[in-house]
Amino acid sequence: MGSGPDTTAVRTALWRALHVLVDDAPPVLDDTIGLQIAAVDDDWRARPDMDPERTRTNRASIVARARAAEDIVVESTAAQYVVLGAGLDTFAQRQAGAVRVFEVDAPETGAWKHARLATLGLDAPERLCLVPVDFEAGQSWLHEVVAAGLDPEVPTVVSMLGVTMYLTREAIAATLSAAASLAPGSAVVFSYSRPIEMAPPEIQSILRVAAEGARASGHPWLSLLTPDEAAGLARAAGFDDVEVVTSTDLHERYFADRTDGLSPIGGEDLVVARAGSAGVRDAISQDDHGV
Ligand SMILES: C[S@@+](CC[C@H](N)C(=O)[O-])C[C@H]1O[C@@H](n2cnc3c(N)ncnc32)[C@H](O)[C@@H]1O
Repeated sequence: MGSGPDTTAVRTALWRALHVLVDDAPPVLDDTIGLQIAAVDDDWRARPDMDPERTRTNRASIVARARAAEDIVVESTAAQYVVLGAGLDTFAQRQAGAVRVFEVDAPETGAWKHARLATLGLDAPERLCLVPVDFEAGQSWLHEVVAAGLDPEVPTVVSMLGVTMYLTREAIAATLSAAASLAPGSAVVFSYSRPIEMAPPEIQSILRVAAEGARASGHPWLSLLTPDEAAGLARAAGFDDVEVVTSTDLHERYFADRTDGLSPIGGEDLVVARAGSAGVRDAISQDDHGV
């Protein structure tokens, strides 16, 4: 990772903005603030990865997963929202309520975003805290967010969107184990990508090009998961209430009435899991073991 933002995080922020700009109204997610934060050149829409036609499924998938996670936050009574691998997430800037947001990301991306938010006057210290953690470095994100002010006694929603594919299975497991120890009433939602051969035939070639591009740009896909494997990781982490929400489910939920045919089918699925009764302090006390 360099000194600027993670390039995959910039790309997904631009896709969210592109959705508002080129797809039919109403948007599934109305987010152009990420474009402001990204500080890209004026000709960003000429980038090959912003081709409106070729990237339709990606764009739909990215707004679907964000919308689904935000709906869980809004529909829950949780007063705290932890965004793991937050990138240029802008829930904290767009929300009308009083949910306290903890954005966790690799130190370089977090520091860059912190500076951009300050420059734009979009930092809101009373409701947004950026927490630097590298999930692959044996650090506990839970320890760090509690140190940053998360109240471990109250229900919390945790999201991890567009991140698992870049992590080893060991890091995914450790990350989910920490989430499973949050207070009762907490929930985690994470996205995963299936192995390419499970995708609809018409988008497999696009995915192969994307996989090669990811590898070439230094962000190789490390973990592609089947639905059973993704749900299994959540159960192994300690969740007993585990639901797989497929890209087809997301289509039915958010895209069925659209007039432009936009659809996330073939994109990422989600796992939604609810925390049991284990205490958060149990997990924190396991920090020495790299949880
Ligand atoms: C594809 S972006 C997704 C960003 C955001 N969640 C979204 O949906 O737009 C992946 C994010 O995961 C973060 N990430 C990847 N590997 C990480 C690691 N080992 N530790 C912490 N963050 C990581 C990247 O910095 C980046 O912000």
